[in-house]
Amino acid sequence: MAKIKDGATEATDPEKVSEAQIAVHWREEGYYFPSAKFIGQANVSDPSIFDRFSEKNFPECFKEYGDLLSWDQYWHTTLDTSNAPFWKWFVGGRLNASYNCVDRHLATDRNKAAIIFVPELEDDETEVITYQELYARVNEFAALLEGFCDVKTGEVATFHMPMVPELPVAMLACARLGVIHSQVFGGFSGAACGGRIADSKSKVLVTIDGYYRGGVLQDHKVKADEAVARALEEGVVVEKVLVFRRNPGEYASNSPMVPGRDFFVDEIMPPYKGKLVDPVSMPAEAPLFIMYSSGTTGKPKGCQHSTGGYLSYVTGTSKYYQDIHPEDTYWCAADIGWITGHSYIVYGPLSLGTTTVMYEGIPTYPDAGRAWRIAERLGVTHFHTAPTTIRTLRKVGPDEPKKYNYHFRHMTTVGEPIEPDVWRWYYDVVGKGEAVIVDTWWQTENGGFLGSGLPALNPMKPGSCGPAVIGIFPKILDENGEEVVAGSGMAGNICIRNPWPGIFQTIWGDPDRFVKTYYEKYNTDKNSKDWHDWPYFANDGAMQASDGYYRILGRVDDVINVSGHRLGTKELESAAIMVDGVAEAAAVPVVDDVRGHAVEMYIALKPGVSPDQGIEQQVSSMIEKEIGKVARPKNVWIVADMPKTRSGKIMRRVIASISNFTDVGDITTLANPEVVEDIRHYVQSDKVASGDQPRELTAAELAAILAFGSSE
Ligand code: WT7
Repeated sequence: MAKIKDGATEATDPEKVSEAQIAVHWREEGYYFPSAKFIGQANVSDPSIFDRFSEKNFPECFKEYGDLLSWDQYWHTTLDTSNAPFWKWFVGGRLNASYNCVDRHLATDRNKAAIIFVPELEDDETEVITYQELYARVNEFAALLEGFCDVKTGEVATFHMPMVPELPVAMLACARLGVIHSQVFGGFSGAACGGRIADSKSKVLVTIDGYYRGGVLQDHKVKADEAVARALEEGVVVEKVLVFRRNPGEYASNSPMVPGRDFFVDEIMPPYKGKLVDPVSMPAEAPLFIMYSSGTTGKPKGCQHSTGGYLSYVTGTSKYYQDIHPEDTYWCAADIGWITGHSYIVYGPLSLGTTTVMYEGIPTYPDAGRAWRIAERLGVTHFHTAPTTIRTLRKVGPDEPKKYNYHFRHMTTVGEPIEPDVWRWYYDVVGKGEAVIVDTWWQTENGGFLGSGLPALNPMKPGSCGPAVIGIFPKILDENGEEVVAGSGMAGNICIRNPWPGIFQTIWGDPDRFVKTYYEKYNTDKNSKDWHDWPYFANDGAMQASDGYYRILGRVDDVINVSGHRLGTKELESAAIMVDGVAEAAAVPVVDDVRGHAVEMYIALKPGVSPDQGIEQQVSSMIEKEIGKVARPKNVWIVADMPKTRSGKIMRRVIASISNFTDVGDITTLANPEVVEDIRHYVQSDKVASGDQPRELTAAELAAILAFGSSE
């Protein structure tokens, strides 16, 4: 077992912990080992890989990932640090991502399934798209984007698409042209989409009339109208809206098509049908896409990802960590609207020429067995999802997997910490004790995995993401920049010391914010061109056990993770304040057994406004309208006054503790400590009365709540 010392971490003694640190203690879990059968077939089973990717071989080790791609022109410089911390990977290299994900498989695999699309309605036919068919569709759509929309290499096209095959087709069509795509999660509101359109200045929006969710055909086109209107308010004119139709010949929306602006794709496609477009040979550092991620200030951050570095990194990690073989049927049940879907539904699996499954709807629709029927019917070998989905599947059908004859070889969990108990159900029941599990820690900003075991070489430990992945060298720092002793089990801020090919290039249009958010905190010399001086601050709390495995505690800044969706507190609060009568708003996370966290809003009213039921309802609806259903608060509490510091900042940590029934901690620094008891009494007695009092929190949950708002 390369790199693994045995012996559990001793619990941290809370008495000996400084204020900059967070005391955590929990029971260490035992290891689970991969089967000989798994090891025998794994893409990586030779421990010499740890040496190949050790620090002395950095950055050249990443040639091994770059070499998994087909390059038009080979790079001359693996890593250029001259404009730190704007790293450039594979400089001098040229390639095309669509060529790598489609064309290069045609010679050997043209008739193999590239994408299997499973519609939500179980009676509807599964759609199999071969590599040849994918090639045809990508080319046609590229021809249409170029010919009809006149989008050019280097411009941005926004998509607001649900889980339908037209989405990866459109992404790959953009990649073919060197057009930067920006896919906004389909569940987000029109307004949220419009803000992102404005930020990226796209003149084209690609959408669909509707899609199925929970058995109901949703009106999705209506959101396009809101998006275009919002973008216009922010000064950006959307020239063309391309509308796919979920059911050919029908129209799922009540919103009228705007003449000259809105076009049904099927109606404008005929001249482009069967057309081929040469893949544009792009520099390795050309942006491939933007993916927006919520941040600590109101505006979402457009994480800009590169072509060569990103594609190398997702291809490499898909091969080594996802253990994808070309003959596999790989199902990642994430949404392509998130980075997980970009990297591990579309780009990684297709670059490796495997079969990737896309499911349109809810994994428990129409019943608890649906996911397992899909797995059985398609012979799925890999299953990849988030703890929130695993918890839901367990809740609705704890024994359901046993009824179906499928066999996973490999499973992934991603997006938030997984409770050991939930991990064990995933392993024993979903994986039938046969599949390895990788718990992959990473972020939208990162392109691909940062923490995970190599499945044949590192044993699994429930609740812990494992060691850093190969070529990634983390350290944990405290608030003052002092290193927390490695392997001590003490918590701090996890940082990555080195650049890696999948790291985002910048925040779209805001390089200062990029440096400020991720590098300023721990950089010691802003003029340095040496990567050693630029640790990447992940904004996550973490601890490292004595075996080198990391346990991630969640965000240290003001982001609330609901079902793996990261919601910025400022975005939530700005929406709440749009309601008439609301003076102040604060959003906090509350531990939720299914979603990980849910949002709770605290609001204070303007003088003279009376606290009636209506306002709470309006706050909820406004948040749903501005951000999306996923953000809908569990509770909205109207309080007379918020607990504030003397400088006037709302102490979210204090109200988060109240919502979670944990100790409010030190409130002596507040300007108005007297309000705390009133709020506590009001909120907690209401929760107790409605049976909403949470169970006792685990150490990790507690640490995450304590860390929330700690950056204030
Ligand atoms: C945040 C990133 C990148 C995939 C989807 C989420 C949390 C992510 C894990 C994990 C514990 C995790 C972190 C991270 N997170 N994976 N395996 N264990 N926490 O992407 O929306 O950018 O969120 O999700 O807090 O910073 P994202």
